[in-house]
Amino acid sequence: SAELNPALLSLKWLLGSWESDEPGEGTFPSIKPFRYTEKLHFSHVGQPVINFMFNAFNAESNKPLHRECGFIRMQPGTNRVAFIIAQNSGLVEIEEGELTGQQLKLQSKQVARISFAKEPHVQEICRVFKLQSDGRLEQTVSMATDNQPLTQHLHITYRRAS
Ligand code: HEM
Repeated sequence: SAELNPALLSLKWLLGSWESDEPGEGTFPSIKPFRYTEKLHFSHVGQPVINFMFNAFNAESNKPLHRECGFIRMQPGTNRVAFIIAQNSGLVEIEEGELTGQQLKLQSKQVARISFAKEPHVQEICRVFKLQSDGRLEQTVSMATDNQPLTQHLHITYRRAS
């Protein structure tokens, strides 16, 4: 396997596979609260880029639900991070933000979607990834839609799967 590109050393803690330790919580003012499980996979091939896949499932039925995949880049010599993301709902987005210690704070810069994407449309997304002191990873996602201001949609913690 390829050696980690030096540009990614500060994101080494993210690499590998993660699995929700207990079901995540999905909320939003306009929907029924739900519970989900999720598997994350972050890998690299020696490029200054992390490849990722997030696969979420209904916590009760195990039915596949939300999926996203993409790439992570860091601006050389800075703590600036960019996520390039495609979602199975028909959404694509660029998120940018900063790495502080072992926390990533991201905000959408560009959001686009297929012409027949379900409404309401997402207008803005904010997320935080945080490596906790107990070794668990936490993700919190907030979004704004046509109808709702920026509000939390997801909260979940993961343990290392490999
Ligand atoms: C609902 C966006 C991730 C499960 C929604 C809605 C939007 C949305 C716009 C409709 C809200 C409304 O009707 O007012 C997103 C975005 C995500 C994301 C932008 C990632 C950044 C996830 C994940 C799951 C999930 C990981 C896990 C299973 C659901 C469910 C609903 C929902 C179950 C309610 C039923 C439905 O509308 O399909 N989401 N979502 N979402 N989301 Fe997400």
